[in-house]
Amino acid sequence: MRGIVFRGGVGVPVRVRTHFLDFPRADVTLRRHTPMDYSYGAAAALPQGRRRTGGHAAVRVFSGVQPTGNLHIGNYLGAIARFVRLQGQAECLFCVVDLHALTVPRQPAALCADTLGVAALYLACGIDPARAIVFVQSHVAEHAELAWLLGCVTGFGELRRMTQFKDKSARAGEGEGVNLGLFAYPVLMAADILLYRSTAVPVGDDQRQHLELTRDLAERFNARFGECFPLPEPLIGETGARIMSLQNPGEKMSKSTEDPMSRIDLLDTPDAVAAKCRRAVTDSGREVRYDREAKPAVSNLLEIFTLVSGEPVAALEARYGDRGYGAFKAGLAEAVNEALAPIQARYRDLEAAPDHLAEVLAGGAGRARSLACPVMADVRRRVGLTAAR
Ligand code: TRP
Repeated sequence: MRGIVFRGGVGVPVRVRTHFLDFPRADVTLRRHTPMDYSYGAAAALPQGRRRTGGHAAVRVFSGVQPTGNLHIGNYLGAIARFVRLQGQAECLFCVVDLHALTVPRQPAALCADTLGVAALYLACGIDPARAIVFVQSHVAEHAELAWLLGCVTGFGELRRMTQFKDKSARAGEGEGVNLGLFAYPVLMAADILLYRSTAVPVGDDQRQHLELTRDLAERFNARFGECFPLPEPLIGETGARIMSLQNPGEKMSKSTEDPMSRIDLLDTPDAVAAKCRRAVTDSGREVRYDREAKPAVSNLLEIFTLVSGEPVAALEARYGDRGYGAFKAGLAEAVNEALAPIQARYRDLEAAPDHLAEVLAGGAGRARSLACPVMADVRRRVGLTAAR
């Protein structure tokens, strides 16, 4: 069985099954530029013209997850599992973006706990601090500084057009719910990415527009101040990128949806997982068959099943096709619990050793800072800020 042995961890190394992380197709499709396959040595695949000079990594991956509430299996299969794969293929930075989480009102204690919780889940899911830089956004002050400078080349109209802002501000209503931070959120995200001269950004489809803005800002900055930033490519996953709600297959599984039955949290107990699978909505008929159009709910469950178990959809259809939804859901719950067990065990170890986690994050912040500082110095000089000495 393939697996990851955690390095630099606490206690006995835990082996986590990773076969279900290996999506059948290459993880990435590069848009606009040459298509390349990151799964066969990303750096080597980079065409000469796009190789970066000056000692920078040829491919640098950056991504972030907001510390809002518990992570669910959709976050895992759509994002973190891909991060785990990418860490072996390129230089990676994985960030807990706590400054982004402040764009909606948060209890300080909850933000703090969620930030450490997401960091611990990163590690519990198999992100290895020896192979990737794991850190908290606010630990590297340069994120906010670059966001200010990029904000000064961002148009008001550009930000007003962002669909996520439109959605979120409509939900929050006018008045105090919508703050400048929420409006400027995409600029901070651009700063996260550009601060490390990142070239590849694994994100969900809903972040595509923010990536477009990041590229526009990089292009504009370069045009005004000289070549400074490479244009980052979004890596939008094909499989597992969109796990849908268990209660409504027309909606993405979401941390912010009220109904806890709509999602499986990574820290759910086996009983909770079983109940959520049992109560997941299904489609008419009783046949277990993959058909996104005719059977969206069952297809979503099949998608989760194949990703966590590593079994092809066809094999699952053959096993459960005419045994009814009950047996299928019981099998699904078992497979999900089997996949979550090692993650939860590792999470509990990390929870019991807060000093270890703090040390990992301090190390990550130090490494991130050492990449960010020279970029920031270059940016300051380019825009005409004077040196302090
Ligand atoms: N906006 C992203 C989300 O909600 C999180 C994020 C913040 C991010 N900064 C980033 C993702 C930089 C990728 C790169 O999912």
